[in-house]
Parts: sequence; C-alpha cells; structure tokens
Amino acid sequence: MTLPHYALGATDVEHQRLLSLASHEEDRVIDACRRAGVGEGARVVDFGCGPLGALAALSRVVGPSGSVTGVDASPAALAKARLLSPSVQLVQADVNDVALPPCDLAYSRLMLLHQQDPLRTLRNMHRALKPGGVLIAHEPSDLPMHAPASEPPVPAMTRIWELVIGAAQARGATTDFGLRGRSYLTAAGFTVESTRAYVVHYPPEVGYDIPRVALQSLRPTLLEHSLATEAAIAALDAEAEAAKGREGVQWVSSPLMVEWVGRK
Ligand SMILES: C[S@@+](CC[C@H](N)C(=O)[O-])C[C@H]1O[C@@H](n2cnc3c(N)ncnc32)[C@H](O)[C@@H]1O
Repeated sequence: MTLPHYALGATDVEHQRLLSLASHEEDRVIDACRRAGVGEGARVVDFGCGPLGALAALSRVVGPSGSVTGVDASPAALAKARLLSPSVQLVQADVNDVALPPCDLAYSRLMLLHQQDPLRTLRNMHRALKPGGVLIAHEPSDLPMHAPASEPPVPAMTRIWELVIGAAQARGATTDFGLRGRSYLTAAGFTVESTRAYVVHYPPEVGYDIPRVALQSLRPTLLEHSLATEAAIAALDAEAEAAKGREGVQWVSSPLMVEWVGRK
C-alpha cells in the first residue's frame, strides 16, 4: 500500500530514527493512559504505529489480559513491528478506513499531522471506539518557533523542522492537528477531556540525529518540490552532524508536542 501524502518513507535508517524516538516516549504514553483511566485488560489500538510506536508501552499498560493492535499502511514498518512486538496484533491498512472490533483506546503519535484530512482520520478513530472510549493523540505543533531545539542552539534544527512540515504540506498533508486539536476533536464528536504540552529531552547524540535523519528521509520530496537544493541539504546535514560532537551541550529536545485526550 503506498501513501502518496506521507513524505518520510520507510527506509531502515528512518525506522531506526522512529525506534529511538519511540523508546524515549514510553513514559508519556503510560502516564497519559493512567490519567485517562486506561489500564489492565483494555483493548487498545495504535493508529499509524510504525515499527514500534506506542506498542511496547501500551502492552505494559494493558497487561496479559488486554489486547494491543497496531495499524499501519507500510509493510516494512509492520515487518519490524512484528519482530519487536510479537504478541501484538498488526493490521496493514489505511487508518482512514480500517474497520476493527470496538476498542477502549484509540492512540496516535506523529500520525495525524501527515494526513490530508485529519478530521476524516479522527472520525474513523471515533468509529473504532466503544461508547465511553478514549482517544489520546500526541502530535506536534507545526510552527517553526516550536521546532526541536537545544542549548546551545543549532539553527539547522529550526530549518529542518520547517522542511519536515513543508514536505508534508507539499504532499497534501494538513499539519495543524497539534495546535488545532480542540476543533478537530469537537467536530469528530469527542468531548475534550484534557490537553497539555510537553517536549521530550534526548541524549545529545540521539537528539541531533533525529532531525538529521528526517532530513535524509525527506530528500526526494524536498528535491521534487524544490523546497531545498542538494547543497542546502548537505549544509544542514553537516551542521547537525557537527552538533553531535560538541562539548557542553545541555539538552536537545523534540518539537513542542501537544497531548489531546477526548472521550466518545
Ligand atoms: C512519523 S511515523 C510515526 C510512527 C509511530 N506512531 C511513532 O510515534 O513512532 C508515521 C507512521 O504513520 C504511518 N501512516 C501515515 N499515514 C497513514 C495512513 N493514512 N494509514 C496508515 N498508516 C499511515 C506511516 O506509515 C508511519 O509508519
């Protein structure tokens, strides 16, 4: 199944990037589930799970009496997920029209910003839930001022984030879910239960590599849509690579992430 609107692709190096990102987000998933009342025995679905996503964290939340399903359109992502999370049920499908048995939690991270019509996607997640079921979405702000950052600052991080968002938009994605989640949730029929914002801090070598690899994953889209030249991509890559070797780095962060919790 091809996803014409998805700019990041499914290479090994891109999947490695998603694995390091996901392994630093587990506490967020577990904490959000606890606050939303999702626990042992629940039936949960990770929409757009990628190679790991929240599958491991959700398996810990629901325990052996619960069930975890991961949905993704990418066969390569699902092949990796099968190795990493053998007890999880995996479904190759488009999150916009997949039909599953009713669940207690519909989860997404870094998926809604890649959809052409996030409201359509959210409506399908709403359909997948039992009455009283909960949606948890962890999605980024698409503004340059909320780009991944570090101390000391590395300007390439902001520019790469602009290119991540620009490439998604050039492929037809509507990237504003993180900031406009309340409007989307309300229109899809959810009651907004809570919202909060956070950034994830990574070890410097991981934190500078996450945007650097994203830049490489986007290369074909950036060139096709004239969003950046080869020379500009090489310069940004070199700047992020050099940052990894710096002394005295205090912290390196993700973009601003917004958590939306909605009840059906
Ligand atoms: C940026 S990755 C995030 C993966 C995972 N949620 C995580 O946080 O690590 C987005 C994933 O969503 C999948 N995806 C995007 N649009 C999709 C769609 N319409 N249907 C199914 N999968 C989709 C991609 O294949 C990719 O694996």
